[in-house]
Amino acid sequence: MSKTRQQVDFLVLGSGAAGLSFAIQVADFGSVAVVTKDSASESNTQYAQGGIAAVMDAADSIENHVRDTLTAGAGLCDEKVVRTIVGDGPTEIKRLIDEGAVFSSSNGSLHLGREGGHGKSRIVHAADSTGEVVEESLLERVKKHPNIQMLEHHFALELITDHHLGQHVSKVRPDIKCFGAYVYNEGADAVETWLAKITMLATGGAGQVYLHTTNPSVATGDGVAMAYRAKARVANMEFVQFHPTTLFHDEAKSFLISEAVRGEGAILLNKGGNRFMADYDPRGELAPRDIVARAIDNELKTRGDDHVWLDISHKPSAFVQTHFPRIYSRCLEFGIDITKEKIPVVPAAHYMCGGVFTDVNGQTSIEHLLACGEVAYTGLHGANRLASNSLLEALVVGHRSAVRAVELSKTSGWRHEIPDWDDSGTIHPVEWILISHNKDELRRIMWDYVGIVRSTLRLERARRRIDLLHEETEVFYRRSRVSIGLCELRNMIAVAHLVIRSASIRRESRGLHYIPDFPELVENERRMTLI
Ligand code: FAD
Ligand code: SIN
Repeated sequence: MSKTRQQVDFLVLGSGAAGLSFAIQVADFGSVAVVTKDSASESNTQYAQGGIAAVMDAADSIENHVRDTLTAGAGLCDEKVVRTIVGDGPTEIKRLIDEGAVFSSSNGSLHLGREGGHGKSRIVHAADSTGEVVEESLLERVKKHPNIQMLEHHFALELITDHHLGQHVSKVRPDIKCFGAYVYNEGADAVETWLAKITMLATGGAGQVYLHTTNPSVATGDGVAMAYRAKARVANMEFVQFHPTTLFHDEAKSFLISEAVRGEGAILLNKGGNRFMADYDPRGELAPRDIVARAIDNELKTRGDDHVWLDISHKPSAFVQTHFPRIYSRCLEFGIDITKEKIPVVPAAHYMCGGVFTDVNGQTSIEHLLACGEVAYTGLHGANRLASNSLLEALVVGHRSAVRAVELSKTSGWRHEIPDWDDSGTIHPVEWILISHNKDELRRIMWDYVGIVRSTLRLERARRRIDLLHEETEVFYRRSRVSIGLCELRNMIAVAHLVIRSASIRRESRGLHYIPDFPELVENERRMTLI
């Protein structure tokens, strides 16, 4: 076997909460490789602030958490899945604590935060750096496990399926199988063939498809794009969640101001100084995220303002600094003392509610391919994710799919006849400007035409422009040697296409998909958008 061919029992693509929790749990049963395109901790998980939603208080109940999740999901959640994931939540929190994660507490019990759409305080958190604590604790265990190898700066290019055995895969077929992935090793500048009994897709979200996003640069939707090309089923891609409050500052890169700040009493004011949320929803600042983001968008558009204000300065300074140390110090770097001043905020793309369609054990429509975390659609979030339910989902489904993967691995093997990556006839790309220009153009199109409020006309315009970018990029891709920038652009185009196509199919306004051409929620449209 050449150096570019490797085989493992479990191949994990992505090193966020989903991929790592899966890896840790399968590692006792076989060899594991975790492929990750940047350094191991770089992920959406690392930047999570608010926390993890789970029922950890006797005054709360699973039933309450289920109800809040279903309400936010606007009729599209799978109730059975919601019950399973919410029900498993407390166990996953205890597991994290037992394994060393330290969360905020008061008087000897967990301090539970509050966020929009939650009827109770149930957000387990580590001040405003929950993601960092979770990621570090998982990475620590991964590094100690002898069966896990961590491959940093390795970029998953394509899933290997029957197609690579020369078998024609025309439509979604129930019998497509996954045999691993082609992975670009950046250091060696070589494409490696990773054969696996089970492949776990845990590549996270796609916020980078939008001009303004809370997501780090790794979030380019690679997993959804790869799965779509492999002909897996993809669901509900029209539901893109915009976070209502990110710091409005040229250099802040849409830094998130956690919803937990509103949970602790911060209020929203327009630039005229009016507290406006009560005009939109009786729950005010703690209405679900889609409502708050749309309200802000409306204030900005009708008043012609560039931002609204978020104000927590009425709270004692020590309270603010203790609860939100990261937000406090980051804002201070931009000259804003949040204990004394209002924070200028705007919405930004935040979370991909749709994704690769799976069951609650991570099983996709492709055999031996599992998916988990933000890349997947289990039915938990429906048309709008309830705040802090995503880390919960990543951990619970990470665990459940590990159980499934171990079982599946007992009856599967490696397919040695898989060919290596063929890049004969390609040349080094020279037109680098095309990649960066087309990325920028795509992100702007999505922001301007496929944002918080949509229209049939704008969706159609976006589709035409994305088609053009697709054509250009495919020609370029076929001629060029592998480059991460080009592969990401190609994946972002695929995600944009899926969002626009799904949004065009849904002829109603529901949850995060708001289109004034079809302003009502329509009972007949209460179904998943499956592609
Ligand atoms: P990620 O954590 O994003 O991990 C994906 C991994 O895949 C990364 O390691 C990435 O580098 C890798 N990857 C991607 N493509 C490739 C490729 N082609 N090849 C190899 N590797 C690849 N949710 C909550 O529940 N509570 C919160 O408080 C919260 N706060 C948030 C705050 C911010 C600023 C952001 C951005 C998100 C927040 N979320 C929160 C959402 C939550 O963080 C994510 O949904 C969750 O962490 C996703 O975990 P994941 O493991 O699926 O993906
Ligand atoms: C936040 O802290 O506001 C983000 C929470 C989430 O996205 O779930």
